[in-house]
Amino acid sequence: MQQLNLFQEIGSEQIVNVASVPQRSPFRYPGGKTWFVPHIRRWFSCFDTRPNELIEPFTGGGSISLAAAFEQLTNTVKMVEIDEDVASVWKTILDGNVEQLASRIESFEMNIENVKEVLFQSPISCEDRAFHTILRNRVNRGGILAAGTGLIKNGENGKGISSRWYPETLKKRILAIAAQNNINFVEGDGLKVLRENVDREDVVFFIDPPYTAGGKNAGKRLYKHSELDHEELFRTASSLRGQFLMTYDNTREIREKAQRYNFVFKAVSMKNTHHSKLTELIISRTEDF
Ligand SMILES: C[S@@+](CC[C@H](N)C(=O)[O-])C[C@H]1O[C@@H](n2cnc3c(N)ncnc32)[C@H](O)[C@@H]1O
Repeated sequence: MQQLNLFQEIGSEQIVNVASVPQRSPFRYPGGKTWFVPHIRRWFSCFDTRPNELIEPFTGGGSISLAAAFEQLTNTVKMVEIDEDVASVWKTILDGNVEQLASRIESFEMNIENVKEVLFQSPISCEDRAFHTILRNRVNRGGILAAGTGLIKNGENGKGISSRWYPETLKKRILAIAAQNNINFVEGDGLKVLRENVDREDVVFFIDPPYTAGGKNAGKRLYKHSELDHEELFRTASSLRGQFLMTYDNTREIREKAQRYNFVFKAVSMKNTHHSKLTELIISRTEDF
């Protein structure tokens, strides 16, 4: 029997069980795509030859890039992120003093006073900023790093501020990522990196932008950098020579935009962190993969 490609698979309405996907990111990321990992594996399995590189222009927590790197779905992976706090984590892990970051995480004594002491200071070095960001990501409600987000109150099982602080796991994850030699990180504008790579046929793109258009405006509350020229992103995607997948909220505005650019799209079911069933839109140039 011929195996289904991605678009056939997501039409079959099976919801991915996130618990079955390896968690590799040090972030709990709002809008994170861990649930999409089985789908991206299916997408890659339909290419005749392994693409040379995956580019993820809006990396955030990077779970798709990490899956591609660890599972060698491509030879190399390029992650791009504009938020300097998020970027500091990736830079420290991939190009900086990762051992120092790991031991700070391991030795941090988690309590509200110590959290406040760290978060009140302005980080100086990249490693400092990385620790600050990881801590904030673990103690803020929903892992949200945008300004104005409060701290976790009761947390899981009433464990309060420490309910998402797993130092050993975090340490293992960042050291495992640092040991990969096929990931490059670029701090900057993902749209610019897309434009620089439009002519490359050996690259594939996973594009998961912050979404602030349409009715929901979720992106504004979730990310420091949430403004994006979506029309320009669609225009750039239409000129890419490599294959791409984009994910967006399933809104009429985005479906109409996708139609205007002659892209194919399908709604895929996922569960959000509150376990309610939602759909997101998967957009590509062709349903062949
Ligand atoms: C929807 S989130 C990506 C989530 C990611 N797929 C994951 O699994 O964690 C979008 C990300 O794009 C970043 N971003 C916003 N504008 C950007 C830009 N112009 N260039 C690069 N990154 C940008 C935001 O900071 C945010 O981290």
